[in-house]
Amino acid sequence: MINRKIIIIGGGVIGLGIGWQLAKAGASVSLFERDKVGRAASWAAAGMLAPLAEAHTEETELLGLGVKSLSLYPQWVKELEADAQMCIDYRVDGTLIVGLEPDDTHQLRHLYTAQQQLDLDVNWLTGREAREIEPTLSPRITAAIHCASDHQVDNRLMLGALQRAYISCGGMLQENSSVEGIVIEKGTVTGILTEEGSQKCDVVVLAAGCWSTQIKGIPESARPPIRPVKGQMLALQMEEGVDVKTVIRTVRAKYPTSVYLVPRTDGRLIIGATNEEMGFDTRLTAGGIFELLRGAWEAVPGIYEFPVLETWAGLRPGSRDNAPILGKNEVENLIYATGHYRNGILLTPITAYEISKLVMTGETSKTITPFQLNRFSTE
Ligand code: FAD
Ligand code: GLY
Repeated sequence: MINRKIIIIGGGVIGLGIGWQLAKAGASVSLFERDKVGRAASWAAAGMLAPLAEAHTEETELLGLGVKSLSLYPQWVKELEADAQMCIDYRVDGTLIVGLEPDDTHQLRHLYTAQQQLDLDVNWLTGREAREIEPTLSPRITAAIHCASDHQVDNRLMLGALQRAYISCGGMLQENSSVEGIVIEKGTVTGILTEEGSQKCDVVVLAAGCWSTQIKGIPESARPPIRPVKGQMLALQMEEGVDVKTVIRTVRAKYPTSVYLVPRTDGRLIIGATNEEMGFDTRLTAGGIFELLRGAWEAVPGIYEFPVLETWAGLRPGSRDNAPILGKNEVENLIYATGHYRNGILLTPITAYEISKLVMTGETSKTITPFQLNRFSTE
């Protein structure tokens, strides 16, 4: 297996994470990125590692994968920081989901009941108890759910570390090199096509985020059903006296956008995010930014005076059921690692460990079996 030539399409956290693990295991691996690595969804993300706060009762399999990936994070961070020789600001401060009005409390209670049914490690708090944990919260907060085991990482630092670790382990990186198509002969991958010509290889790992459906050559029946889901974001500079410590998420029954606030150790406060089905449009809108600022200000009034550092929008790669598409499909030696939607940073360790193992051994583990493309053909 070690002598086979592996090509990865896409240099986000998923492609880089898999590439690093493969290169570390001694495989011959080249990663093709059409732009600079790590400037798409993985750059746009907030870095929350929040399987509990983002749990949906109808997505229990995804919840299990998220919890498993979160449990791998301490080992992942240790290994990555050692290989890259840099810190990625992994923080374990927990998450507070807060409500401001009676309607919000009602919705929060509904969420709490669902979380309890899923046997999650969450606690109900009064507004006062929530403010004891996070004193920057508004006195208007009526109630909160504390998800102590939801963590966070600085995804931009993690991208930098993954790139360094990948290269230092011997991975080849081709930036500004768009893969136009995958060459498939008699149902088996034999190479890729780029603007510069063709490249032969034995295995292709498709990790091109929300662009994964655009790569030519894949038969219709094996095409991964991925769509872009836009998220607008902004970053503020925290100032003395209002030092947010935990991740805060709001539940707002009356407004279209619930927001989250994610404090970074360097003093940035990330505020997100809209969730818009707008195709590949990444324009920022007045309404989007307004909703984010209003929601954040209602939860933490002290942000009012903070300088605005940055605004941006990214495209989440969403599959038909919001879970990632991992592993084999009908095309021999074409491996999928895409469709991580709103949880790609959380799911990076489990994806990288499991997909690199699959490429090296040819064996699909029990962990990723439910996430193969063939789950859609039985619908
Ligand atoms: P990407 O990072 O999009 O990388 C795909 C790469 O493939 C790109 O660099 C692209 O240029 C390249 N590419 C595409 N086509 C080609 C081609 N033909 N040839 C070569 N290269 C190609 N997840 C969390 O876990 N926690 C969060 O808090 C969180 N917050 C988010 C907030 C926002 C606003 C958004 C947008 C996403 C958020 N996510 C979060 C989700 C997470 O960012 C994504 O699931 C994850 O980054 C997907 O990683 P990826 O590597 O698959 O995709
Ligand atoms: N997981 C946060 C987001 O997708 O906005």
